[in-house]
Amino acid sequence: TLYIGPFIHSDSLTTLDIAVNGMIGVDEHGTIAFIRRDMKGKQLPTEPGWEESKIVRLNARHGFFFPGFIDTHIHAPQYPNAGIFGKSTLLDWLETYTFPMESSFREVRQAAKVYNRVVARTLSHGTTTACYYATVHVAATNLLADVCLSRGQRAFVGRVCMDRLSPEYYRDESAESSLRDTEACIEHVRGIDPGFELVSPIITPRFAPSCSDESLKALGKLHQDSGIPCQTHISENKSEIALVKKLFPEAPHYAGVYDEAGLLTSKTILAHAVHLTPEERSLIKTRDAKISHCPASNTALASGCAPVRQLLNEGITVGLGTDVSGGYTCSMLAETREAVMVSRHRSILEDGSDECKLSVEEALYLATRGGAKVVGLEDKIGGFEVGKQWDAQMVTFAEVGETVGGLDQKEGPVEVFGGETYEEKVAKWVYTGDDRNTMAVWVRGRLVHCKEGFKP
Ligand code: GUN
Ligand code: FE
Repeated sequence: TLYIGPFIHSDSLTTLDIAVNGMIGVDEHGTIAFIRRDMKGKQLPTEPGWEESKIVRLNARHGFFFPGFIDTHIHAPQYPNAGIFGKSTLLDWLETYTFPMESSFREVRQAAKVYNRVVARTLSHGTTTACYYATVHVAATNLLADVCLSRGQRAFVGRVCMDRLSPEYYRDESAESSLRDTEACIEHVRGIDPGFELVSPIITPRFAPSCSDESLKALGKLHQDSGIPCQTHISENKSEIALVKKLFPEAPHYAGVYDEAGLLTSKTILAHAVHLTPEERSLIKTRDAKISHCPASNTALASGCAPVRQLLNEGITVGLGTDVSGGYTCSMLAETREAVMVSRHRSILEDGSDECKLSVEEALYLATRGGAKVVGLEDKIGGFEVGKQWDAQMVTFAEVGETVGGLDQKEGPVEVFGGETYEEKVAKWVYTGDDRNTMAVWVRGRLVHCKEGFKP
């Protein structure tokens, strides 16, 4: 397939590369075979094999192709709770809203209903890769992996491990059963996607307070022996940090708990990281563990404003996560906007420092390239380069009054009047756009979402 039109992606943390008259050739495996940056007045390629190509064309006035978003932290079973959190904070929010909802996934029918919705909805928002937490239930977790594979979303799917300090009605029986069930879910994914080409398992201790020492050590050993990535939460909320101190009196700090269990490696994704100490940041940097910044959630649950600029300056890899339903939205575009806004709050807290503020370009980098590094797929996704996979979204915003692909863009929220630079159009998309601007989405070259009535 030849994709013809404007291409935009991050070429550094602070800059977007914009090719207004571009063309990208994608082969039958969904891999980018060639890129032409300036097609103005030029012929389509006549190389053998490409004459008969399908063409997906986007007028330069009507939008652009952008890499798919990478949501590095999302709880699929919490999707029905998105927007429901009241004034709760982390520990009471878990008890009040989260554990009751997650426990309902013992019913596979509930899982089928919710997991189909969440995968379809995140795809419609342009999320081409998601790191999912499921629940403790093996059957439901396996079903989430099946849904991702059949709907074509690249995904990491983790069965949640929690063998203590969890309610009687929702917990692992023991450290052994937690490990055994985790292994069963890994084997299931191996069965449906042997090379972990699209769907991967991920080892998922919920967070230190809900895992016994024995469980953390067993999961750490599995992580080290298998090379399968791992994800967990860290330093989200001050009461949580105090609880970890109480539960692990011997450990030097929260990050040290994971490190001593062998769970802090370059394949570890740590969500939140709002209140890390300098020693913890230094250890995380040394281990090359990755951080998922979840600004909407951190604001909703009043957890705090993560010091993203500091993390970046210290050389730590950061991506963005929606953290549904701590976060109220499964839209990574909205999360990108939240990252920008939270960085402003951080600036306010630090006497108006400009240093803290994230630009639109930087936030989009975190949502794509940063996320790709967080999930260890920077060679495959996150931008448009030859050899990478075509995980992309077509973003549209025709000039006011025009139609795109037969669809009236009056329905779209981004109002473009002509005369804006491409940088300004991108900023308008981030600040005022939503899924109505996401016309079509591809993963590995497969069309996985398309706006009703539009035929790319
Ligand atoms: N810490 C432990 N479990 C959770 C969860 O489900 N969401 C968030 N945001 N933090 C957690
Ligand atoms: Fe979370």
